[in-house]
Amino acid sequence: MTAYQPTPPTARGPVAVPPAPRPAGQAWSPRPSAVAPAVQRPPSQSQSTWDKDAVIELHEVHKAFGSLKVLDGVTVRIPRGEITVLMGPSGTGKSVTLRHIVGLLPPDRGDVFVDGQDVPRLNEHQLLALRRGIGMLFQDGALFSSMNLYDNVAFPLRQQTRKSEGDIRSIVMEHLHEVGLAGAERRMPNELSGGMRKRAGFARALVMEPKILLFDEPDSGLDPVRTTLLCDLIREISDKYHATSIVVSHDVGAVRRFADNIGILYKGRMRHFGTKREIELSDDEFVHQFFNASSEGPLGMD
Ligand SMILES: Nc1ncnc2c1ncn2[C@@H]1O[C@H](COP(=O)(O)OP(=O)(O)OP(=O)(O)O)[C@@H](O)[C@H]1O
Ligand SMILES: [Mg+2]
Repeated sequence: MTAYQPTPPTARGPVAVPPAPRPAGQAWSPRPSAVAPAVQRPPSQSQSTWDKDAVIELHEVHKAFGSLKVLDGVTVRIPRGEITVLMGPSGTGKSVTLRHIVGLLPPDRGDVFVDGQDVPRLNEHQLLALRRGIGMLFQDGALFSSMNLYDNVAFPLRQQTRKSEGDIRSIVMEHLHEVGLAGAERRMPNELSGGMRKRAGFARALVMEPKILLFDEPDSGLDPVRTTLLCDLIREISDKYHATSIVVSHDVGAVRRFADNIGILYKGRMRHFGTKREIELSDDEFVHQFFNASSEGPLGMD
């Protein structure tokens, strides 16, 4: 689901996503060139992942809500065409980071580039165009509760393209089939299980054939078998569409299964970013504690 269209008047789902506000009083003068400036690699990111072609780049991104400092200088380069898993304790800013990437939140300071575009400086028209190329799966699938499954998945195509209903039907059915929901298209969201809702959100995220996929905890609330199936599906779809995916997940087992790269966000900073192998082999006690879900280590309940 791209989820960036205005919510239709009949929908009561949690999808209403306002256009990104322009921060008042901040000078958003366009850069002469939309190319990300050269930034020094922070010690938190491995050289091997830093040197790859990056599709998403965050440079010293700061974000606070009132007195709550959430992002405190996040710098990261996300390699193109790979699956990057973003991990970190609850409330540490993972969802906020995703919202910066799609321009739903502007940074207080710092830069966000997606495919060389300077996201906070895009005008509304450019932002909509950018979002058409990004599929986002929200935690609960974020379906419109007033529409059946078919209409939910067709929604971005009807809103953002001039395709005929016949063309829309074949695209929608192809993707419902892909996520194992063919036959359920007339069901309303409240008639679907949690796992089905997630897969429906997945189908909706795919209909615009995005090159970037953002999944916010696609595996939360699923049983282990469904989590495994969903992980396999993310891998399969990402490979099929040569997409760049960012998956927020707490599930270490699932992460080991499909991640190419892993980023660990903690207290507003990207503490570690590397290939799965680099992270697994890390002797950093924080990474170790996180990966082994251990109560021993620097991470506490604070
Ligand atoms: N629009 C907002 N206004 C005010 N505070 C916000 C807003 N969005 C997020 N926050 C706060 O920012 C912090 C980080 O939120 P975020 O949703 O990014 O956490 P998270 O890492 O995704 O956590 P979880 O794993 O529980 O989903 C939280 O304290 C949250 O309450
Ligand atoms: Mg979150």
